Amino acid sequence: MPHRRPPHILLFDSGLGGLSVLSALRNAIPEAQITYLADDARFPYGAMQDEELALRLCDVLAAPIAERGVDAILIACNTASTTALPALREAFALPVIGTVPAIKPAAMLSENGLVSVLGTSATVRRDYTHTLIAEYGEGCRYTLVGSSRLAALAEAEMRGERAPDDALRSEIAPCFIESEGKRTDVIVLGCTHYPLLRHRFETIAPWPVTWLDPAPAIARRAANLLAESGFPVGVGNRSEPGEIVFTSGRAISPALAAIFEKYGLVLVKNAQ
Ligand code: DGL
Repeated sequence: MPHRRPPHILLFDSGLGGLSVLSALRNAIPEAQITYLADDARFPYGAMQDEELALRLCDVLAAPIAERGVDAILIACNTASTTALPALREAFALPVIGTVPAIKPAAMLSENGLVSVLGTSATVRRDYTHTLIAEYGEGCRYTLVGSSRLAALAEAEMRGERAPDDALRSEIAPCFIESEGKRTDVIVLGCTHYPLLRHRFETIAPWPVTWLDPAPAIARRAANLLAESGFPVGVGNRSEPGEIVFTSGRAISPALAAIFEKYGLVLVKNAQ
């Protein structure tokens, strides 16, 4: 049944990684009403056990879904999506759009057949990621690189504290492989925090590569699903600013406040 009002999307991550999906989402669905929930009280998700994470997600999403009248949930987090998408789809009677490493597009883009996947240690360890590679990664050799530090470095950068070059360099170094005269040419950004550091990666990389950010594809998927559900998509004006809620209820730095303004987000201070 067609809806007259634009869709309300709950954008979710453990922290600020969802910002890397937000712009693409606004381009694809300019009229969408956005609520961004950041579960910073439990950041980083990469350090949580799978079962604990699935329980936490169902728990932390229940109240905003019930109270805010959302039409779809976009899990802008690879660490959460690669373990909990089935549980979330069972728990909530709404379209749940996940974010998982872009293995298939990487295989299509790579000319040398050497692809690296940079994600949290949890994401690169998961069966979900290994199955994607087995099913869609044909013809390429994949190097899986798990980082336990990069998401926190991205958070610091967003707060206005510059992440040191050396720290970034050592985290991305294992992605760069030389083998039989060929070099890695595609690196999948398998954590939504990492596109926030892409400009930094580009300047310190030992050679140029394609840094594959899945955000445009995820946003297109969300737009298609919502259009199929009868919502106006891509026909209205840009919506009002979105709201961002931190589960910790923390105060934010002036640098982060400026970033929220740039992204069209207003901080709402009610801890979950
Ligand atoms: N942004 C999240 C992801 O895409 C994870 C960061 C974390 O909490 O460890 O995987």
